[in-house]
Amino acid sequence: MERIDKLLANTGRWSRKEAAELIRAGRVTVDGTVVERREEKFEPGAALWVDGERVSTEEYTYLMLHKPAGLVSATEDPREKTVVSLLPEHLRRVGLFPAGRLDKDTVGLLLLTNDGALAHALLAPKNHVDKTYLVRVEGGLDGEDEAAFREGVTLADGYRCLPAGLERLGPNEALVTLREGKYHQIKRMCAARGKPVAFLKRLTFGPLRLDEGLGAGQWRALTGEELAALRAAGGRE
Ligand code: URA
Repeated sequence: MERIDKLLANTGRWSRKEAAELIRAGRVTVDGTVVERREEKFEPGAALWVDGERVSTEEYTYLMLHKPAGLVSATEDPREKTVVSLLPEHLRRVGLFPAGRLDKDTVGLLLLTNDGALAHALLAPKNHVDKTYLVRVEGGLDGEDEAAFREGVTLADGYRCLPAGLERLGPNEALVTLREGKYHQIKRMCAARGKPVAFLKRLTFGPLRLDEGLGAGQWRALTGEELAALRAAGGRE
């Protein structure tokens, strides 16, 4: 059984200290009873509430980040600023890491979690978790590019990609859907078609969709529904 202040901190919304303050102020209840002490343990299956709002009692933390350009998708780096550096102090200490990587200049949806088993399942090739990107290229996209993506683009090193979706939105803009995640994959696919990528933004990761309300560099905790859908996508209901 977990301590209630720890569960509150796992939501990503409060530090342990802030959680203790909420408890001291009598704002936290379990199944209708006010929690008196921060060390109290939580009975699995009970309902935890703060100010009348039901909150998650997950053991792990799950955040959706709108990654800005210029940061690396890592927890630590000797030279570069990492995505984890965007988080407040208390969340930098719970072992969050990005589930999958976006290039330094790629923006958009990144899942940060400390649930290694779920991250691993979501990235496992057998689970076919699709990712969708908004792509802008130099040069015009045409029906031949769509057909090539559908059939599987062969990269400069000879690797034949799995079939991918390319849905044109404008002369040089498209939605690209991938089932795999090779290094610089979209950049290399577009380069193989002679159309270098000028802008890349990830919009979806399996059932997760980038929250339009999050500006670049902002993050929020996943909702219960988002987490349930992600677990289903990773075969870990
Ligand atoms: N493909 C790329 O080339 N870069 C990314 O960051 C993601 C997909």
